[in-house]
Amino acid sequence: MPTPLKPTLLHQAIARMPLARPPVWVMRQAGRYLPEYRELRKQQPNFIDFCLTPELCVEATLQPLRRFAFDASIVFSDILMIPHALGVPVTFTEGYGPKVTKPENAQALLTLREKIGDVTNNLAPVYQTLKTLRHEIKAETSLIGFCGAPWTVACYMLDDKPSADCLNLRKLAYTEPQTFEHLLNTLVEATIAHLTAQATAGADTLMLFDSWAALVPPALFELAVVQPTRRIIEGVRKTHANIPFIVFPRNVSTVHLQTLAQQLPENVALALSHTVDVAWAAQHLQPHIAVQGNLDPALLLSTPAAITAEAQHIARTFGNQPGHIFNLGHGIDRHTPPENVTALIEAIHTA
Ligand code: CP3
Repeated sequence: MPTPLKPTLLHQAIARMPLARPPVWVMRQAGRYLPEYRELRKQQPNFIDFCLTPELCVEATLQPLRRFAFDASIVFSDILMIPHALGVPVTFTEGYGPKVTKPENAQALLTLREKIGDVTNNLAPVYQTLKTLRHEIKAETSLIGFCGAPWTVACYMLDDKPSADCLNLRKLAYTEPQTFEHLLNTLVEATIAHLTAQATAGADTLMLFDSWAALVPPALFELAVVQPTRRIIEGVRKTHANIPFIVFPRNVSTVHLQTLAQQLPENVALALSHTVDVAWAAQHLQPHIAVQGNLDPALLLSTPAAITAEAQHIARTFGNQPGHIFNLGHGIDRHTPPENVTALIEAIHTA
């Protein structure tokens, strides 16, 4: 167990302590909108290999911290490192996105369970990256480790374009419910192992990205989203007591946000998509759970004046109660002018 660090601004927000201003960070804050990232990326064109090279990942993580006064950093990695670590080939093609090799049959999915023990060995460079980062960043800056949530990772494993509808995964859930549950369980175990190792290496906060949670049929929401999320948090907390979590069930309905707000354990924040009305969320979610969000990333493609007005509206609406982390409603767009991020942070610091 690492020595407990002093609570950061991010920790205080997740614990719903009263604060003078919310902590600010941005999903995908390291990445292609930064010219220095595009330059660094040329050193390793294979994205998986990039993610397994600690010196490149440390540099990519630190780049946004040099430019912007963020209160948190997120380790440079990817949610698809889990299938990679389970021995399933993953490739990234410019302009197409990620492609995960599809299983030949249900048996191939079932045998993945035997590979769970390989995960932390295969992802050792991620832990090396975190150890170095913990020394490089200021103590007041949180260091976030992350994983994809099981449903979302399973979508990428079965569907070539999850954005379409996760049809193959939904078909599996109905036609082979036991294989579906077995796959979710394998991913829960692999995720607990990877997040625990990230916390041991120095991550002081953990995040779960459930990017395709909105495609889960309501009848399966408990099985595919609520239970895996709870089991992962409980599993990691066996060795890292009460470690703060941020959970991002992207684009789910308000009914499901309310379910999560009531059913997630203490010291967890719920990240909100840009489509969630802030006044509604302040009234119905924030009394139960800290919230993160939720400026529309598209607004960062407009003007500093428009960004400032909307950022301050969000910060003031959620600022009436404790428990708000300022962020976007999804990852920053690659065409965002970096100056607009400076304007965003300035708006929160002066709200
Ligand atoms: O600052 C950070 O947040 C960086 C770390 C990070 C990356 N991916 C780096 C990355 C994080 C937290 C992620 C999460 C991630 N990866 C999610 C969840 C968040 C979300 O957006 O919903 C998902 C769904 C993925 C899977 C994935 N990886 C996609 C869809 C892509 C984009 C494909 C493309 O080329 O547009 C990636 C690649 C990826 N991951 C990039 C980065 C910076 C771009 C790769 C490049 O440099 O070419």
